[in-house]
Amino acid sequence: MSETPLARRTAGAGLGTGAGVGTPRVGVDRGLSRALLSAGDTAALSALLHDGARHPDGYAVFALEERLDEYRARDFVTAATGLLGAALPQDARGALLRDVRDRGMRLGEGATGRYSDSRDGGNLHTDGPHMPGEPPDRFLLYCVHQAADGGELVLLHRDALTERLSPDAVRVLGEPFHFDRRGGDAWAEPTVVRGVLTPGRISYLRAYITIGHRHPHVPDLTAEQLAALDELDSLLDDPRLWRVERLSPGEFVVVDNRLLCHGRTAFRDTPEEPRRLMLRTWIREAARTDEARTREARGAQGDNGAPRRAN
Ligand SMILES: [Fe+2]
Repeated sequence: MSETPLARRTAGAGLGTGAGVGTPRVGVDRGLSRALLSAGDTAALSALLHDGARHPDGYAVFALEERLDEYRARDFVTAATGLLGAALPQDARGALLRDVRDRGMRLGEGATGRYSDSRDGGNLHTDGPHMPGEPPDRFLLYCVHQAADGGELVLLHRDALTERLSPDAVRVLGEPFHFDRRGGDAWAEPTVVRGVLTPGRISYLRAYITIGHRHPHVPDLTAEQLAALDELDSLLDDPRLWRVERLSPGEFVVVDNRLLCHGRTAFRDTPEEPRRLMLRTWIREAARTDEARTREARGAQGDNGAPRRAN
């Protein structure tokens, strides 16, 4: 188990004090990855992952010593996710492992277009703010192929935001917003209602809020709400507040989705190279699974008491 890279990062640049590029990687040696893939002793890898996941910065980047092909990488991601908690479904079909690649979609396009299907940059957000119940606690993102250009991961801690937001914006962002659910069943509620800044969590994706408030019977965003969202966006767009990571093939990041907004720089695939492909899982922390399940069961009731189906 290697704590040194994480300790070094703690001693380095603080959050919100300027862009940092390329945090030290936590090495995952061949023995640890093979033990996971062969159902061997996973205690050491579990300890390594949990240690990284608990880092005060809210994320850690890991590097596999052994290069896995895409199919073994899928098995590794699934098994590593299981060490951190329970995998959550990421779409209407219940996919537990989602390919993040350019599917030619634009953010918010049509009824179902999602950031993870596009090559857009910017638009820092958290994952799953549109899902019923609580959004994922963490996500794991594994790099199979990186883009020819761009595609850096951008991270911004909520503390860097709350330190800089006006008191009015903090207050308004704590009040309910409607997030479009990006498809789902015709008979279900079309939006999920939650605050952007709630105790211990930030939940945000501007396009889903904009679309959510266009639904019939959903009130328009007020001038006060728009001002608070614009203030938040101006901070999220400020590169001086970013941490920037470029994942190489065989590297993966575990990110606390309650504490960090994330995005990426726009990317470009070329015909000569394999297209950018990341594998992503959404994670409910093991220690919170039972408690969260209870809350989600309550949260799965629509505003009018009508049941909502998971997205
Ligand atoms: Fe995301």
